[in-house]
Amino acid sequence: MKKSSWRLLLVLALIGVLVFMLAGCGGGGEKKQTETKQEAPPQKIVVKFSHVVAQATPKGQAAELFKKLVEEKSGGRVEVQVFPSSQLYGDKEELEALQANNVQFIAPSATKLVGFNPSFQIFDLPFLFPDKEAVYKFFSDPNGGGKMLSSLEKADMIGLAYWPNGFKQLTNGKRPLLKPEDVKGLKFRTQTGGILASQFTALGAGSQAMPFAEVYTALQQGTVDGQENTFNNIDTQKYEEVQKYLSVTNHGRIDYVVLTNKKFWEGLPEDLRKIMSDAMKEATEYAVKLADELDQKSMEKLKSSGKMQFAELTAEQLAAFQKAEEPVWKEYEDKIGKDLIQAALNAAK
Ligand code: LMR
Repeated sequence: MKKSSWRLLLVLALIGVLVFMLAGCGGGGEKKQTETKQEAPPQKIVVKFSHVVAQATPKGQAAELFKKLVEEKSGGRVEVQVFPSSQLYGDKEELEALQANNVQFIAPSATKLVGFNPSFQIFDLPFLFPDKEAVYKFFSDPNGGGKMLSSLEKADMIGLAYWPNGFKQLTNGKRPLLKPEDVKGLKFRTQTGGILASQFTALGAGSQAMPFAEVYTALQQGTVDGQENTFNNIDTQKYEEVQKYLSVTNHGRIDYVVLTNKKFWEGLPEDLRKIMSDAMKEATEYAVKLADELDQKSMEKLKSSGKMQFAELTAEQLAAFQKAEEPVWKEYEDKIGKDLIQAALNAAK
């Protein structure tokens, strides 16, 4: 074959390869794009729910139910990631993280909101609530718990619900606490300063505010002698391993305010916001039911473990504690708000 014919053949072959490549790549590419479009999953919203307690608590379980309901009812459009036991944020960080919308749901105990509204210390006012029914009534009173929830909007947060835990009991590693004088000289861990610190000062005791995640070690190492918490928190944190004495005082409450970021909440498509509101209602009912059940269960478990010496205080002994705490009422009634305290007292009637 002549040189020129070879060249012609080569040129033709190259054109052929080019045409094939263009057809192949172009066509295939288009096809691929359409396929990708078809296969792309619907846009998913991922939200985070962070809390500091164990999963086997009323708060932990209610958060899990909220996740399940939202994911089911949204048909997978929303994924709720729950982070228990301060895994994502501890007490100090979770409020800041919520305001920055780095987490969308948290449920701190009411007293941890004191920086936003001092009224949230009402659940700590010693011996204010005689029973859980009064607490639940106060939660749903528009002039009580309702008013306090609305006050959070100015801090870019929305209070969605109250979830209960229970009444606080005193534990320590030094001695049985049967009368106010027994408490003198001991040092207790508190959730925050403010009223909780004053409550121990009134008994001649010291206190140190500390995040929940640090309490077990502090008790173990003797940084503090004791702490106050619900039966369920004492049980699920295994404080019986590091505390010998428990006094059944029911002197204050641990209840949670479920919070979301205002911009996030208001920016949700309406149908998803409704799904989340409905799920929150169901989770709240569940939290109430569980709080009652687990409080009792943990109390029995701690008692029967034999690791802690239980002191069930008589009405007279409790009255002595109540009397010793009177200065705290005087100090805090204006800070909390007399009208709110009155609403709580009415709820107890
Ligand atoms: C505590 O810090 O003791 C509690 O507020 C922890 C909790 O969330 O129950």
